[in-house]
Amino acid sequence: MWIFVDSANVDEIREALSLGLCDGVTTNPTLIAKEGKDFKRAILDICELTDVPVNAEVTSSDYTGIVREGRVLASWAPNVVVKIPFTPDGLKAVRILSEEGIETTVTLVFTAAQALLAAKAGATYICPFVGRSDDIAWEGMDFVGDIVQIYENYAVPTEVIVASVRHPIHVLEAARMGADGVTVPFSVIQKMMHHPLTDIGIKRFLEDAKKVGWKVPKR
Ligand code: E4P
Repeated sequence: MWIFVDSANVDEIREALSLGLCDGVTTNPTLIAKEGKDFKRAILDICELTDVPVNAEVTSSDYTGIVREGRVLASWAPNVVVKIPFTPDGLKAVRILSEEGIETTVTLVFTAAQALLAAKAGATYICPFVGRSDDIAWEGMDFVGDIVQIYENYAVPTEVIVASVRHPIHVLEAARMGADGVTVPFSVIQKMMHHPLTDIGIKRFLEDAKKVGWKVPKR
């Protein structure tokens, strides 16, 4: 299962990479604004760290603008994936860009119907947003299961990267449903690693190790 990091913060991405827990990066204008950096600089800083897919989101909303902007973003680094919000113009742009060999992610997907259309357009990835669905009392994970099933039915190559992930349970549910991956804030990765019984166990082992006369050699 792919674990993408949903962040534009280079320290977090570097740390996730060193843990072997960064199969890709997703950014959006909100995440980049948080870093207080110029948009292009923020994407290039991430691409300098790694060659995993790095999603850069277009801000144009008309078909011609999205295609033009997508080509520019894709020219910045070989691992840039052009992220396009789900709209009819976005779908048309996905078709053209994918025909040109440019990888795309269709974002802001909230239904299985949208996911089906994004796949038909040739999206490399889609991002169904579970947390924002939960926020309006609409079971976010329900449509993820439908999407995985529909893509399986037709051997669709588009990958499902579950987004708007708020906690480890979202990740586990995505894994149970067979989603290709998740994109998660670094804080969720930290929560997935932590367990109080692990901490208590380590403390006890270290205390008992002192009783058995073992010292780690200095060199
Ligand atoms: C996905 O690529 C988006 O950047 C992200 O998951 C949005 O998450 P949010 O709903 O927490 O803003």
